[in-house]
Amino acid sequence: MAVTARRRVRHRLPPARWPTRDEAARARWFSPLPIGPRLVAEQRTWVPAMVPWRATGDGLVTEQVIDWYARFAEGRPGVLVVEATGIRDVPSGPLLRIGDDRFVPGLRRLVETVRERSAGHTRLFIQLIDFVAVRRRPTPDRFFGRFLAVDADVRRRTAVALGEARWIEAPEAELRARLQAADRPVIERILTARELEALDFGYRERIWDMHLPHIRDLPGVLPGLFTEAAARARTAGFDGVELHYAHAYTMASFLSRLNVRADGYGGSRQGRVRLPLEVLAAVRRRVGDGYPVGIRYLGDEVIVGGSDLDDAVWFGVRFAEAGADYLSVSKGGRFEDAKQPKPGEAVYPYTGESGQECMPTVISDERGPFGRNVPLAAAIRRAVRAAGRQTPVVTSGGIGSFDLAEEILARGEADAVAAARQTLADHDWFRKIRLGLGHLVRRCEFTNYCEGLDQRHKQVTCKLWDRAVEPGDPSVRLAEDGKRRLNAPEWSPPPPE
Ligand SMILES: Cc1cc2nc3c(=O)[nH]c(=O)nc-3n(C[C@H](O)[C@H](O)[C@H](O)COP(=O)(O)O)c2cc1C
Ligand code: SF4
Repeated sequence: MAVTARRRVRHRLPPARWPTRDEAARARWFSPLPIGPRLVAEQRTWVPAMVPWRATGDGLVTEQVIDWYARFAEGRPGVLVVEATGIRDVPSGPLLRIGDDRFVPGLRRLVETVRERSAGHTRLFIQLIDFVAVRRRPTPDRFFGRFLAVDADVRRRTAVALGEARWIEAPEAELRARLQAADRPVIERILTARELEALDFGYRERIWDMHLPHIRDLPGVLPGLFTEAAARARTAGFDGVELHYAHAYTMASFLSRLNVRADGYGGSRQGRVRLPLEVLAAVRRRVGDGYPVGIRYLGDEVIVGGSDLDDAVWFGVRFAEAGADYLSVSKGGRFEDAKQPKPGEAVYPYTGESGQECMPTVISDERGPFGRNVPLAAAIRRAVRAAGRQTPVVTSGGIGSFDLAEEILARGEADAVAAARQTLADHDWFRKIRLGLGHLVRRCEFTNYCEGLDQRHKQVTCKLWDRAVEPGDPSVRLAEDGKRRLNAPEWSPPPPE
C-alpha cells in the first residue's frame, strides 16, 4: 500500500440495525466454524488478542487477569484469544508469560474459569509472542554519559566533525562530556543513523542485526521456544494456540521486506517465510495434527519499504499449505513509523500511520475506520481457496455492528469476524445481539482511549464503563489510579416473558 499522508476527517458512528432473535439465530455470524480437523467453534464471533496489563511483573496470571477473561467469557464469543504471551523465561514487565512450566497452573485456572463462565460456549486460544529488545528513550545526558559505545569509529567521526585530531586519543570521560555539550548539527555528523535513533527514540534491535549473536541465533532457538510454549498451552487446557506473526515483533519482522538477513532467513519471500514455516512445523510436530495452531499476521505492513498485500497473499497460501488451522489478518502496527516517545518512555508501535491502520479511529481518511481492513483478509482468503485450502480466515479492524459482520461473511470475505475494541466496550454484545437485544449494545466510539492506556502500560479499560463506580462500593475492583473500575459492569439477560 502507498504510504502517503492523507486528509483526515472525523467520521460519525453509522446508525446500527439490530436483528431480531430469529434473524440472529439464522445469521452466519452465529453459525459454527470448524477450526482444524477436530475443533468446532460454536459461532464465528471472535475476540482477538488484547493486552490488558494485568499480569504480575513476573508474567504470572493474577486475579485481575482471571476477572478480565471471565468477564469476556460471559459474553460467550465463539473464540476468545488470550493476549500476547511471552514465550521466553525473561523479565518482560506485566505481560503474561508461558516460557516455563511454573506459568502453567495460573494459565490452567484461567482456562477453567473461561470454560465455566462461558458455560462451555467459548473456545479459548492463547497468542504466543516473541520480541527483541526495545529500550526507553534516554535523556541526552544518559545517552552520551553511558549508553553510547565509544569506539574508534566514534572517536574518528568526532575528530573529523570538530576538526580536532586529539579526540582520537582523548580520555573517554572527556570525549563523552564534549559530545554532551555538542550542538545538534554536530551530533548528526558524528553519530550513525542507528546511534541517532537510539538517542532520539531509544535503542531498538532489528532481527537483521547479525553482529549480535543472540539475533544471529534466532532461527536456531525460536522453533524450540514456540514449541515448548505451545506444549504448555495444551497442558494448561487451551483449545489452541495462535502464533503471533503480526505487528512490531520478531516473527513479523522476519516476514518483512525490510528483513535483509543474508543467512537464508531474509531477502526473498522464500527466505523471509522460512523461519515462520519452521516454527509452525516444529509446533505442529509437538502438538500433533488435531491441536489447533493458528497464525496472526499482517495483510500489509503499511510502512515505507515494508511487505504489502502481494506478500501477504503469498505468505497466506504458504501457511495454509503448511497446515495452519486459521489465518487471522491484521494490518500495520510497526515501529518504523512510530512517533518519538518522551525521554524515559519506550517507542510504541501504534502511534504512526501503520498504527492508525492497525487500530483505526473515527479520525480517518475518506474510507473511514469501519471494516477498513477487510479487503486484505478477502484477498488472502481468495488465494487460499484458489490453492484448494479451506483454512478459515479471520478479519478485524473497526467492526462494531451486526450488519457489517454479516455482510463480510455473506460476501465470502472472511470466515470469522473479530472485534477487539467493540467487545471491550461491551463484553456482552454478541450475546445481546443473539438474544435480539441489540438495542442494548454499548457501542464503541473508536476514539482509542483504551489504546492510550495500553501505550502507557496502564491497566486497560473502556471509557464507556470505567467511571461507573458508586463511591465506596467495595465490590468494584479499581485500577491502580483508584479512579477507574477494572471490569465492565455485570449484565444479565432479562428473564423470558
Ligand atoms: C488495548 C489493546 C491491546 C491489544 N493487544 C494486542 C495483542 O496482544 N495482540 C494482537 O495481535 N493484537 C492486539 N491488539 C490489536 C487488536 O487485536 C485488533 O487487531 C485491533 O484493535 C483492531 O481491531 P478492532 O478495530 O476490532 O479493535 C490490541 C488492541 C488493543 C486496543
Ligand atoms: S475506550 Fe473508546 S475505543 Fe476503546 S473500547 Fe471504549 S469506546 Fe472503544
